[in-house]
Amino acid sequence: MSENAFIEYDGNKLELETMIGSENEIGVDITQLRAKTGMITLDPGYGNTGSCASDITYIDGDKGILRYRGYSIEELAEKSTFMECAFLILKGHLPNHSELAEFDQGISEQAGLHYSMKNNFDGFPANAPPMAILSSMLNTLACYNTELLMTEHEGEAFELVVSKIISKVRTIAAWTYRTSQGRAYMPPNPNLSYSGNFLHMMFSQPFDEYKIIPEVEAAVDLFFVLHADHEQNCSTSTVRMVGSSRANLFSSVAAGVGALWGPLHGGANAAVIDMLENIHSNGIKLSDYVDAAKDKNNDTKLMGFGHRVYKSFDPRAKILKTHVDSVLEALKIDDPLLNIARELEEVALHDEYFVSRNLYPNVDFYSGILLKAIGIPVDMFTVMFAIGRMPGWISNWREMLSHNQRICRPRQVYTGENLRPYVSISDR
Ligand code: CMC
Repeated sequence: MSENAFIEYDGNKLELETMIGSENEIGVDITQLRAKTGMITLDPGYGNTGSCASDITYIDGDKGILRYRGYSIEELAEKSTFMECAFLILKGHLPNHSELAEFDQGISEQAGLHYSMKNNFDGFPANAPPMAILSSMLNTLACYNTELLMTEHEGEAFELVVSKIISKVRTIAAWTYRTSQGRAYMPPNPNLSYSGNFLHMMFSQPFDEYKIIPEVEAAVDLFFVLHADHEQNCSTSTVRMVGSSRANLFSSVAAGVGALWGPLHGGANAAVIDMLENIHSNGIKLSDYVDAAKDKNNDTKLMGFGHRVYKSFDPRAKILKTHVDSVLEALKIDDPLLNIARELEEVALHDEYFVSRNLYPNVDFYSGILLKAIGIPVDMFTVMFAIGRMPGWISNWREMLSHNQRICRPRQVYTGENLRPYVSISDR
């Protein structure tokens, strides 16, 4: 039992219960605050607000800890696969052989897209942003699965929706790329792994099968593992919020894609490459770039640096950094952007501005270089993030419904005009 907290205002004192999480994080329960005092809390950006209690992912940002269902990201990155992590995140335990085989098969069977969806793809302009296509096409899946637009969060129908979304998001991503290249859709190959099949659908040509290099397949799988969940970030909170109105899972995850798109969130992986290419092609001195990022009078940021939660290091960035080398080596790529990234990291890590604000490389700092080496175009980077994050979004959506959460509906402190009389247009 925890100690309660007290809030004192205008001579009145209110006792607030506290909740202690399994890793001793303390939450003050303010659910009765407005009813009992008429006051609300104010926390723009929600940096101090726990929006839910969750069993899925644990982060300790000060110590650089990330765990899915209690397993450390370091151990999962080394020993697990994306399919196994997806099962773990969704179901709460590591699968045995037959559970994993059944889960894998369920996803593999759903890899195809309805042929009529070709018309939807053909309807987009050639330069349509892949994240816009992805979000639209996830919603389009709802049009082809009208019998599955329910908010049940367990049972066969729910399992089917889960398999469909986790499988088809990968197919939609690959088809988006092929459409942008003016190439025909490449059907999935059920004999390949989740990540191998993705590479095949992206890069195989008719009568010219893409040769899957094990290091590359493993790197894509690792990328998905590292992105599979990250507790209540902007896109996951969006998925929960949309789902809290009892909207179906297809439209909830489509909304998550929109939230992920921004450069302060998943869009940062593409922004990092833009930044490194800008430095490289314009021969910008790294110290000048870092000075610009520190200057509050311009909008330049050191993309891929900083995090709302991690204040010592992002464990995902550490893992990725060590894998970038092996992939570049396997592909015999010498990317000058990698050297710039390394040097930039060194400069920033010794700069008082970044040190004092606890700004360290985040997952996006090295992931762009990895994806670029594999041949993923820059405008598809955030789509890759969305594929990986799907188990986390779905698991959070499910948990929110299983807690029978009320519709999300924050309040505000109104700062606008007081009541004033309407003035007819001729008198204005
Ligand atoms: N470059 C320069 N200054 C920075 C940066 C940066 N990348 N990040 C934060 N700051 C400064 C910021 O200006 C502020 O300075 P001051 O205290 O003097 O006003 C201070 O550091 C605290 O930053 P904040 O903006 O209050 O922090 P936040 O928690 O609101 O934002 C963030 C976190 C990730 C949006 C931000 O660090 C950022 O914009 N980073 C660059 C974009 C990026 O890499 N995003 C990917 C995040 S990881 C992937 C994911 O999970 O989405």
